[in-house]
Amino acid sequence: MNAPVRVTLKLATSLDARIALASGESKWITGPEARDAVHHLRADHDVVLTGVGTILADDPLMTARPGGEPAARQPLRAVLDTHLRTPPGCALLTQGPAVLFHGDDVPASAVKALEAAGARCVERRAGPSGVDIVEVLEWFASESSSSVLVEAGGRVAASAIRARVVDRIEWFRAPVLLGGDGLPAMAALGLETLGAAPMFRRTDTSACGADIRETWERA
Ligand SMILES: NC(=O)c1ccc[n+]([C@@H]2O[C@H](COP(=O)([O-])OP(=O)(O)OC[C@H]3O[C@@H](n4cnc5c(N)ncnc54)[C@H](OP(=O)(O)O)[C@@H]3O)[C@@H](O)[C@H]2O)c1
Repeated sequence: MNAPVRVTLKLATSLDARIALASGESKWITGPEARDAVHHLRADHDVVLTGVGTILADDPLMTARPGGEPAARQPLRAVLDTHLRTPPGCALLTQGPAVLFHGDDVPASAVKALEAAGARCVERRAGPSGVDIVEVLEWFASESSSSVLVEAGGRVAASAIRARVVDRIEWFRAPVLLGGDGLPAMAALGLETLGAAPMFRRTDTSACGADIRETWERA
């Protein structure tokens, strides 16, 4: 049996838990100290996992560059991408191989183009809300990866919380308010009772430049 995978969810938000304006503008809500702390988090995890929404919106590298320098050991970079919408020319694939998890209904030409660009395309079970995140974690475990940092938009964040796989939240909160028309850090959880709400306990709070960093562990 594979060792369990520990999942950290990173959130970088406004005070009112928004990750972007309605227009999608999101660079940069948190300050340089928080962004550097995120690079340290990436360097400390085996895998950095995002969703194709973030790839299309931000075209991120997703590499670990603590202190502005590439970390000696880079995390595996991975994307949940049911229909393989990741562009072969995206920045992610200029930095070495990355894994794209997709469903069973993708054109062979998309797989070919992405693999030619350096991606490893891995098919997993997928449903209406995307690729099955538990199956993805099992795949990481089978590859001897034991820690995953989820750095994604609200949809993947909510999927991870709904699947009850998040062990820790690292939350960077900037001193700015974006309002209810901003994009929420977490999409719908579909809760019907407060008793069913996932609970976390705060284990640390510190200043991070002008921002606040909070660490929460699953209760
Ligand atoms: N501040 C932060 O911490 C932060 C971090 C990252 C991104 N962002 C912002 O987030 C915004 C994008 O949000 P988003 O929600 O569209 O991006 P996302 O959560 O990164 O990606 C969502 C997409 O991933 C795919 N997906 C595949 N399997 C999934 C699953 N199990 N659960 C959920 N999604 C799955 C879906 O597209 P398919 O159906 O096509 O597969 C879905 O639309 C951007 O504005 C970006 O700047 C903020």
